[in-house]
Amino acid sequence: LPSQDDIKDIIARHSQLEGPLLPILHDIQSQFGHVPQMAVQVLADALNIGRAEVHGVISFYHDFRDAPAGRHVVKICRAEACQSVGANALADHALNKLGGEWHMTTPNGNITVEPVYCLGLCACGPAVMVDGQLEGRVDNERIDEILTECGA
Ligand code: FES
Repeated sequence: LPSQDDIKDIIARHSQLEGPLLPILHDIQSQFGHVPQMAVQVLADALNIGRAEVHGVISFYHDFRDAPAGRHVVKICRAEACQSVGANALADHALNKLGGEWHMTTPNGNITVEPVYCLGLCACGPAVMVDGQLEGRVDNERIDEILTECGA
């Protein structure tokens, strides 16, 4: 896990930028896989902005997470074309099965489930992405298989 000094090092690398918050957050996330809660205060102090502002930016962008992801990341499309062919029911099924909500990670650390807003596979919904691999026409049976393969 990153220390405050790690976060400060990343901030220092961007100190000459105008509006450095987003690039700093991207760097923290790409280096550590998430943006820890502790970073909010460090960033607010270093950039002389409010914690609420930092927090607002983190929660606005779906890509940032505040805890490390599971070993496998399952993204389920929630955009319109997929919704029209049952993506919401598919997502409910998957989340119920895992006993959690969007952005959850299973207690064994194997799977994180995230919403995504179009994967470019709109003609073949419901679409999911599992560790970067796209799959279309996913039904309940297939998502069960996927979750089992991922170690649910
Ligand atoms: Fe789901 Fe485009 S709407 S892939």
